[in-house]
Amino acid sequence: MSAQRKDDHVRLAIEQQHTHRGTNQFDEVSFVHHALAGIDREEVSLDTSFAGLAWPVPIYINAMTGGSAKTGVINRDLAIAARASGVPIASGSMNAYFKDPSCAHTFQVLREENPDGFVMANVNATASVDNVWRALDLLRANALQIHINTAQETAMPEGDRSFAAWAGQIEKIAAAVDVPVIVKEVGNGLSRQSVATLKDLGVAAADVSGRGGTDFARIENGRRELGEYAFLHGWGQSTAACLLDAADVDLPLLASGGVRHPLDVARALALGARAVGSSGGFLRTLLDGGVDALVAQLTSWLDQLAALQTMLGARTPADLTGCDLLIHGSLREFCADRGIDTRTLAQRSPAPASASSTTGSTR
Ligand code: FNR
Repeated sequence: MSAQRKDDHVRLAIEQQHTHRGTNQFDEVSFVHHALAGIDREEVSLDTSFAGLAWPVPIYINAMTGGSAKTGVINRDLAIAARASGVPIASGSMNAYFKDPSCAHTFQVLREENPDGFVMANVNATASVDNVWRALDLLRANALQIHINTAQETAMPEGDRSFAAWAGQIEKIAAAVDVPVIVKEVGNGLSRQSVATLKDLGVAAADVSGRGGTDFARIENGRRELGEYAFLHGWGQSTAACLLDAADVDLPLLASGGVRHPLDVARALALGARAVGSSGGFLRTLLDGGVDALVAQLTSWLDQLAALQTMLGARTPADLTGCDLLIHGSLREFCADRGIDTRTLAQRSPAPASASSTTGSTR
């Protein structure tokens, strides 16, 4: 059952990539263009840090799969691409391994193919502390991801209907393990309230994983004969909205969900994310073009991100948070209703000295 579900997820996620990819709320975020802001490419670094971690790049391959023969091959190829491009990578949910240890190798391959890389183990919020340790040990993981996915479970035919214990279990896990714990959504987003709660629970970072890309309510509904949960398609807040909403919570944020190209990466970083992940898009590249195509995509995204930073005058990814951003359309309405000041965002770069000295000029 579990192995079949993993294969279904890949099939339906790829179908979605081919049929439902297009605009999303990242399109409602634009940089104010300052024509003399540019710096030299040699000055630009892609280093980022959060929760005591230092990553050489702010892009990662986010959680996807493992647990069946087919998905073991996918994990092998993802790991090879991660190693070749130097990006961090996460496993898919390791619940399948807890239930059936004979599928261990379909996850372990992430470490075998990428012995020195940054690897995250992914579990659900009901995992026991013992099982979390098993997952971390199997992958020699550098960090732990815990996914929270109430909309997915609700649409899933065999999904959970008991969510009340999740927060307590997250707190228990965060207190027990010796690697940073990152809690993530799966494409429906984390609100300001959710991120604040996660901070109180003792997690190290939150990946908002918002709406705009892979839609798990749609995927699970696609596994139902009658498709009776179609009304949940598109549930939640976009990734851009989540970053704006939770910006004032004192917890490092990562961004994923609907990241389509390096400009979306730069937008998410400018909205405060410390690093930016993609799942469905990278999976599509891998399955359409093979490992070489994914390595080429990752390499070119990193190069193009550096090019954007050069044009925008951002020496580091974190410097992008000093760039002026305009928020348009429905995202602007979201900001108004949630009390987020878009004018401050549009005017955060320092004015050149001459701008103030000429104020009041009598010329
Ligand atoms: C996922 N995602 C996911 N997340 C998670 O925490 N554990 C998991 O096991 C999975 N499984 C999974 C399978 C497949 C095939 C895909 C495409 C995705 C969710 C993923 O990590 C991410 O949060 C969302 O997919 C949103 O990002 P994208 O796909 O829009 O870039």
